[in-house]
Amino acid sequence: MSKIYNFGAGPAKMPEEVYEIMRKELTNFDGSGISLLETSHRTKAYMQFNTEVQNVVRRLLDVPANYKILFMAGGGTGEFAAVPLNLMSRTGTADYVVTGDWSAKAAKEAKKYGKVNMVLPPTDRYVGIPDQSEWNLDPNASYVHICTNETIHGVEFDFIPDTKGVPLVADMSSNIMSKKVDVSKEVGLASTAADEIILWHRRMGHLGVRNLMLLKNKMADGLRAPVNQAVPLPLTDVTVEYDRVSTHHEEPEIPEEPGNPALENVEVEDEVWESSDEGMKQILRMFGVIYAGAQKNIGTAGVCLVIVREDLLNQALPICPSLFDWTANAKADSILNTPPMFAIYVMGRVLQWVERNGGVEGMAKLAAKKASLVYGAVEESNGFYSVPVAKNARSKMNVPFRIGSPPNEDLEKEFLKGAEALGLIQLKGHRNVGGIRASIYNAVSVEEVETLVKYMKDFQNKYAK
Ligand SMILES: Cc1ncc(COP(=O)(O)O)c(C=O)c1O
Repeated sequence: MSKIYNFGAGPAKMPEEVYEIMRKELTNFDGSGISLLETSHRTKAYMQFNTEVQNVVRRLLDVPANYKILFMAGGGTGEFAAVPLNLMSRTGTADYVVTGDWSAKAAKEAKKYGKVNMVLPPTDRYVGIPDQSEWNLDPNASYVHICTNETIHGVEFDFIPDTKGVPLVADMSSNIMSKKVDVSKEVGLASTAADEIILWHRRMGHLGVRNLMLLKNKMADGLRAPVNQAVPLPLTDVTVEYDRVSTHHEEPEIPEEPGNPALENVEVEDEVWESSDEGMKQILRMFGVIYAGAQKNIGTAGVCLVIVREDLLNQALPICPSLFDWTANAKADSILNTPPMFAIYVMGRVLQWVERNGGVEGMAKLAAKKASLVYGAVEESNGFYSVPVAKNARSKMNVPFRIGSPPNEDLEKEFLKGAEALGLIQLKGHRNVGGIRASIYNAVSVEEVETLVKYMKDFQNKYAK
């Protein structure tokens, strides 16, 4: 059979080397003489592998120790529900940044479990990411959800948004492991110690934040805010943390407010903020949760990788099914029930392949090269090909393009037919947007992309007027 070039959006091309390994191991997992497909998930061999897959994720993305790594069933769509089920209880409302069909779906799902604030104005034409200055973020949101790469529209974030201390939740299904992600990126330090306290409480999901807001108002506005507006909430479990904070205000007056538990235990001292406090710093990480369905860059369908900051556990809604409950899954080390073991195994082998091939930095270099080849062919086509997406938001994983202006659907069909005849397959654009889409994930080689680009040029030479 002649060579097939698979540009599918997912399930997508797998590294050839991984097939070789899987072929050898299929009927003999870890020297046991039987296949993983018929091995108990409680065996030592599987449990060890389960740990190794977590470790390789941790190594590749440099995941700090205060994050759990989970393997969840239900794919990306399962996590659209799991995210609000696990986090919405914090304030009952969540921010969704909708930049394409997948984040729109995530927002729609979240509406079942709480209030959803749409951060961007509604549109059905997703061609870029509005500047953060135009975002309508709610400081009271339980979390801010983004999709870092919209697979259908080819819209990718080239920055990590500043969510002002509200946990960031990122669907990275179609670009995880294609570049370095600073999982441990810290939130910008607040201007005063009181801001730090508020930030810290937000991240801990303590509703007592409003009391502290008042406290801050008092400090800033000469104690003008009436205390009876405060909502008394138990803060006893966190008072120890106050030892670590400080204020730039000299001898702040913290009024005695009997009966207001939020203020009873607060001791704000006039000390310098100890930025070396690792415990506090770890909590002030930007990313709350990262999740990614496996069937694009990290394996096959059936498992969703979830990386969750520990302080966001233990707050699932009571209706959350155990299977979707991150806390229950973390406690069970992702072996709560029979997990999608084979999909987890494939993920492990793919991630080890990433590691052997330069890690995420290596993948990023290749992704930049491959993307510049395809976008370059579009740019140099004198308008024969066009990409609707703004330059700063163009995806390095999924390149959607049209032929002709306005798009000539007959010519696009001809393009796809000619491509298939050469073994260049799965190039049809998603049914929601039409046109052509070349998905050039980690496993697609530079040579394969060069073959596609050569075909694009030949096709243009034949049909351009
Ligand atoms: C960015 C993104 N999120 C979520 C999903 C949904 O994943 P699943 O089909 O595993 O539910 C997809 C699927 O293509 C996707 O591309």
